[in-house]
Amino acid sequence: MKELKGIKIGKHFIEKPIIQGGMGVGISWDQLAGNVSKNGGLGTISAICTGYYQNMRFVKKEINGRPFGTENAYNREALFEIFKNARKICGDKPLACNILRAINDYERVVKDALEAGANIIVTGAGLPLELPVLTKDYPDVAIVPIVSSARALKIICKKWKAAGKMPGAVIVEGPKSGGHQGAKYDELFAPEHQLEAILPAVKEERDKWGDFPIIAAGGIWDHDDIQKIMELGADAVQMGTRFIGTHECDASENFKKTLINAKEEDIVIVSSPVGYPGRAVKTNLIENLEPNNNKIQCISNCVFPCGRGKGARAVGYCIADSLGDAQMGKLQTGLFFSGANGYKLKEIVHVKDLIDELMTGEKK
Ligand SMILES: Cc1cc2nc3c(=O)[nH]c(=O)nc-3n(C[C@H](O)[C@H](O)[C@H](O)COP(=O)(O)O)c2cc1C
Repeated sequence: MKELKGIKIGKHFIEKPIIQGGMGVGISWDQLAGNVSKNGGLGTISAICTGYYQNMRFVKKEINGRPFGTENAYNREALFEIFKNARKICGDKPLACNILRAINDYERVVKDALEAGANIIVTGAGLPLELPVLTKDYPDVAIVPIVSSARALKIICKKWKAAGKMPGAVIVEGPKSGGHQGAKYDELFAPEHQLEAILPAVKEERDKWGDFPIIAAGGIWDHDDIQKIMELGADAVQMGTRFIGTHECDASENFKKTLINAKEEDIVIVSSPVGYPGRAVKTNLIENLEPNNNKIQCISNCVFPCGRGKGARAVGYCIADSLGDAQMGKLQTGLFFSGANGYKLKEIVHVKDLIDELMTGEKK
């Protein structure tokens, strides 16, 4: 049994090797991220579509109850409010911010997150090659890519080394994770793409560039899973779905209940306008999906691969609107992202108790 020790991400010491993954829209905002950091893990605030619903008061223009345009959707004032509230919970402890590379206004949102007080910027869904330059005025801020292959880490390290700032850590995410996947549909179930298979190759690549920690993500559920993945060379874990089952998680009660009621066969893969497959609970939206639906309007202009609603019409739903609806608990129209183990969720607990259980293997 390996002793679970804290890790350093750049200059920031995380007391417990448990990272709560960024979850948009609005699943990991101030309450969840603040409480994870307060309890010694690393809380990650999602910067995705911060202008939705409860933050509508910060939005300058809306259409049909949705923030209009990228600037309103990735709302600077709302992100500042989320950070302010999280800081009330965790004080000066490190807080990360997750910003997908595939969003429109990526550079501006990184700048907003830095100014709002993020200590660590995490980016997946694309290669964040420009992050060292975007964060150059913030030498204490660590930058962390999410990769699903050693090749991606190599490309990033080569570019970042030339720019003078190396990763504070790397998150290696396997295909059991919730939300958007780094692999194509055909690869998701192939043994060579599973976390256990890609982790050693990522570690080998990391060794060529430095000794920054490796954080493993995707399908990690309990203390035993943490031990097993650490045996394979991970220094810490990132977990998403399990944290949805907490009182502090910013998702609606309906979101949490949807996971609690889900059976193994209800967790499915769905095409997404972001251009990667997504993993979610099969609810009404997925069951009745109508591809090539020309009625879908693009209001928020959220991610560039969607091409201003073209991708949304092709797959049959708008990603920002559907994730926002799920956060609000709208069962008919919401898209409820979940990891492959989401059906294991049976109860809602406090963040503190979950972290204690993950660290010790003992349930309170
Ligand atoms: C509801 C939900 C939303 C997510 N949103 C994002 C996101 O916006 N950005 C991101 O990098 N990862 C996102 N993820 C992935 C998580 O951060 C995490 O890495 C992943 O879920 C880990 O797998 P697990 O859920 O099996 O623990 C999301 C996951 C879920 C379940």
